[in-house]
Amino acid sequence: MLPVPDFAAHRAALIARLAPDEAVLIFGAPSFRRNGDTDFKYRPDSDIWWLTGWPDPEVAVWVRPGESPITMFVQPRDPEMETWVGRRAGPEGAKARFGADAAFAYENLEGELVRLLQGVKVLHYAFGASSEQDTLLLRCMAKAAKAARRNGLDVPETFHRPTRLLHDLRLHKTEDELVLLREAARISAEAHVIAMRAGRPGVREFEIEAAIEHTFRIAGGTGAGYPSIVAAGDNACILHYVTNDDTVQDGELVLIDAGGEVAYYTADITRTWPANGRFSAAQKALYEAVLKSQLEAIAAVKPGATFWSIHDGVIRSLTESLVGLGLLTGEVDELIRTDAFKRFYMHGTSHWLGLDVHDVGSYARDGSSRVLAPGMVLTIEPGLYIPPDADDVPSEYRGIGIRIEDDVLVTPTGNEVLTASAPKSVAELEAICAR
Ligand code: GLY
Ligand code: MN
Ligand code: MN
Repeated sequence: MLPVPDFAAHRAALIARLAPDEAVLIFGAPSFRRNGDTDFKYRPDSDIWWLTGWPDPEVAVWVRPGESPITMFVQPRDPEMETWVGRRAGPEGAKARFGADAAFAYENLEGELVRLLQGVKVLHYAFGASSEQDTLLLRCMAKAAKAARRNGLDVPETFHRPTRLLHDLRLHKTEDELVLLREAARISAEAHVIAMRAGRPGVREFEIEAAIEHTFRIAGGTGAGYPSIVAAGDNACILHYVTNDDTVQDGELVLIDAGGEVAYYTADITRTWPANGRFSAAQKALYEAVLKSQLEAIAAVKPGATFWSIHDGVIRSLTESLVGLGLLTGEVDELIRTDAFKRFYMHGTSHWLGLDVHDVGSYARDGSSRVLAPGMVLTIEPGLYIPPDADDVPSEYRGIGIRIEDDVLVTPTGNEVLTASAPKSVAELEAICAR
């Protein structure tokens, strides 16, 4: 049996942090049209999922401390729709199985919200995500304010973005979430090893993509947490390459950035390896530079370190290596000050990881970097990308793209690399990729 999130504990944590006159309003994600009359497979909004595990669209959740803290608005039971589209739990199921203390059909949201808003001073709500939802809320606010003139109850006058409370809770992973992230990391590492074994010269990138995503689903996961990048040769210099339709050539490196979800908690792993089982001297030199910076950055992940300092360390390490290899010339400090390294390393080193691949939680507060604390999970993903047309660079380096990405949990004493079972040393990769 795959583990499931402890939604009740998540709800309790949120309720415990709300004052009696504070409330939270969250809307579900809409269903998106793919083409014609076909929608994309539905993926719940991560906030809704974190709180309730509700799997369907047309949902809103209201949270306010008190006797009935959780109110859900959901699609009602409908035998015809259930025959065509799928089973629905309805408001009854929301109460029986999804932790709602009160539940209504979604069409009753507007009327009920006018009632619920009265007596609330502070509302946590993500203005700007959907103009339709904003308009609905503002309409309800106006009606609630009118009623307040008569009954003297407060209506919200202070609004907080979810970043302040809900997303701060999601940033600090609980034990149940770590179980899921470890499982996502495990199946994703397994998929990368399968890819390394399969990705010999002559194979098409999409064949490797299929093998990876098969591994995610056959393990019982919810699928890829983001479109898989399978980039052979200089395709690896396109950071978000997802076309995946080239043929792997002898002598090329293959960069794969792919992570599977378990109960919608995703891993995010990148590995880069030689299709024919042997790094060339230039490939190896760049690979060792990226790996060195990555290992140093992982070693720096511990409580008290700052999010920004991790990136600064990687920039320094990579710049020193680029100078050592002759790809940059000048003083390291000056090359950093002038962003010269950005020609070959143009993205950040880390992001939070959880239900969203670029997970919620602020990276800085009041102009200062976030300080790492136990329970936070972040990626460490340095890379080097030498454009194929970099005529001023020795030809053997051109068109090489390398990224190495692991998922790292901050622990009380340091860190745990959740994705450690995905090999990354030169010797390990050459052994696994031997043809
Ligand atoms: N796979 C997306 C990222 O690495 O940020
Ligand atoms: Mn990432
Ligand atoms: Mn990635």
